[in-house]
Amino acid sequence: MYTIGIDIGGTKIKFGMFDGNSQLVKEDQIKTPKEAIVENMIVALEELIQDEKIQGIGVASAGIVDFHNGVIKSCPNLHALANVPIKAMLEDAFQVSVVVGNDANCAALAEGTAGAARAVSSYICITLGTGIGGGIVHNNELVHGNSGYGGEVGHMTLVPNGIVCGCGRKGCWEAYASGKALERMISDDPELASNNYQPKDVFENYNNDVSCERVVDHYLEYLSIGLINLQYVFDPEMIVIGGGVIDSSKYWWNQLEEKMAATASIPVALQQAQLKNNASMIGASSLVKQG
Ligand code: BGC
Ligand code: NA
Ligand code: ZN
Repeated sequence: MYTIGIDIGGTKIKFGMFDGNSQLVKEDQIKTPKEAIVENMIVALEELIQDEKIQGIGVASAGIVDFHNGVIKSCPNLHALANVPIKAMLEDAFQVSVVVGNDANCAALAEGTAGAARAVSSYICITLGTGIGGGIVHNNELVHGNSGYGGEVGHMTLVPNGIVCGCGRKGCWEAYASGKALERMISDDPELASNNYQPKDVFENYNNDVSCERVVDHYLEYLSIGLINLQYVFDPEMIVIGGGVIDSSKYWWNQLEEKMAATASIPVALQQAQLKNNASMIGASSLVKQG
């Protein structure tokens, strides 16, 4: 019997099939469709599952999740998914039970079980992708908060009257330190924009191109301010950083640590996500077993 883990992000949707030992045996991904998101997911899933027997489906999604109904109540970078009955549609299509959770919360669970935060009980997991996600774990329990959106750290205000975020507010951390924010910073830089640079190129050239250095330094500065704020509020044992941006961490990780050490008056135990950009998908599949 297999379980399915799905990670719905603003840019792509990843699908994984896991065996009884939680090992990933098969995976696939599609670009996040502009509409008919769940319908497109069903097509990709049928292709992945073929004739295998599955036990259940776990879905990690960006946005504020109504866990009980398996619906995303609102999502800054995926407006088309709001109020779509994900759980009901997938249960109907595959006749197995479906559990939906927030993507960064799922990443936090996975990193705590099988990743960077295995040895600690209070930690924060941050995902840097289209948005910034947060999963806060205190004494081995996820902090859901009063209404279920505890940990939505991407929308804490970093800059008064700043850039408009996908959530409609101004100056959110996510508008300055997500992968999408970096894309904006690149397109605002005439030289980088004219070279058609992507975030990956800018990171790769961090050490040998002054324009890249300027933009990445700026990006890391915003990233570090938010991380330090979180450290002051929660004093976690560890902050784990994952999401797509971590794929190029070898180019910028040391500089981030140096910036943090230079500006925080408290130690911040930063760790890279060990499950890399798969953490949410792995955490989603584990939701199936937890029921
Ligand atoms: C959303 C979060 C999500 C994060 C990462 C943010 O824009 O508000 O719910 O966890 O993006 O996908
Ligand atoms: Na979260
Ligand atoms: Zn926001």
